[in-house]
Amino acid sequence: MSIREKISRVSTLIPFPKTSLELLTGSYDKNTTMQKIIAIAENDPALTAKILSIANSPFYGFRWNVGSIPQALLTLGTDEVTGLILAYQLKQEIFSWDTKQKKFLQRLWKHSVVTAILARLLKQYLQLHSDGEEFTAGLLHDIGKLVLAQYFPEKLDDMQKKMEKDKKTDLEAEMEVFEMTHTEVGEILGTKWSFPEVLVETMKYHHSLELISNNKILPSVVRLSDIFAEEWQYGIGEQASSFEIDNEVCWKNLQGAFPNLEGVHSREIGKMIRAQLQSSHDFINLFL
Ligand SMILES: [Fe+2]
Ligand SMILES: [Fe+2]
Repeated sequence: MSIREKISRVSTLIPFPKTSLELLTGSYDKNTTMQKIIAIAENDPALTAKILSIANSPFYGFRWNVGSIPQALLTLGTDEVTGLILAYQLKQEIFSWDTKQKKFLQRLWKHSVVTAILARLLKQYLQLHSDGEEFTAGLLHDIGKLVLAQYFPEKLDDMQKKMEKDKKTDLEAEMEVFEMTHTEVGEILGTKWSFPEVLVETMKYHHSLELISNNKILPSVVRLSDIFAEEWQYGIGEQASSFEIDNEVCWKNLQGAFPNLEGVHSREIGKMIRAQLQSSHDFINLFL
C-alpha cells in the first residue's frame, strides 16, 4: 500500500484535541462559543491559569488585570482565545507522543508557534479585519509534517538528508521520500476534521498561493510569516537564503489587497515585525 493510500485510509491520523476541534469546527454563535470555552476552562485549572498568564503578558500590554476567563473572552475575543486553547492542547498532545523524532517535533512546534505569532503581528500591522483566525492558521499550516514525522519516523531522516545535503526544497524531498507532500497531508487532515475552508486552503496552498482564487489574504499572511520564521532561525529547513520576498506571491497578494503597501519593501516590514518578535520572547516561551 502506498503512503498516500495509507494516509487516506487512517481515520484518525493524529488525535486532534477534542475540545479544540469542537471549537474550530462548530458553527456556533459567539455566545455559545463563549459558554463552551468557559465550561472547558472550568474543568481544566491548568488551562485557565495558562490563558490568564498569556492575557496578562506584556505582549498584549493591557493596563488592567485580566482575572477570569469571561474577562479574557471579552478582552481578547473568542477566536483569539480559541487559538490559545488550541496551542495549549495541541502542545500537550504532541509532547505526549512516544516518538523517535522528538527533536524534529520540538523544532516543528517552535516553527508553528512563531509563525502563528508573526501572523498575529502582521495582522495588527496591516490592520486586517479578522476574527483572530490567523493565529490558528499559522499554528496549523505545516501540520501535515507532524503526521509524516509521526507515522514514518524512519523515512524522516532520509528526507532531512535530501534537504541538507542535496539542497532540495522540503516539497521536493517529501515527494521523493514519501511520494506526497505535507500540504497534501494537511488537506486530507483538514477535510477529515471538517475545518473551515480558509484553514484547509492555508494548509493546502501555502506553498502554491497562485492556485487560490478566493480567500487569498489569510494564506498569504501565514506564508509571509512562515518565510520570516524560516529566515529568522525558527525554520523547519526551507532554504531561507533563497527567498526574494518582494517577488513572492504572498507579498504580491498583500500588496494588491492593501494599497498602503504599494512601494513598500517587504524588508522594511520585516524589520519592524522582527523587532516586535524579539520583544515577544516571554510570550513565545509561554507556548513552548
Ligand atoms: Fe509548509
Ligand atoms: Fe512552515
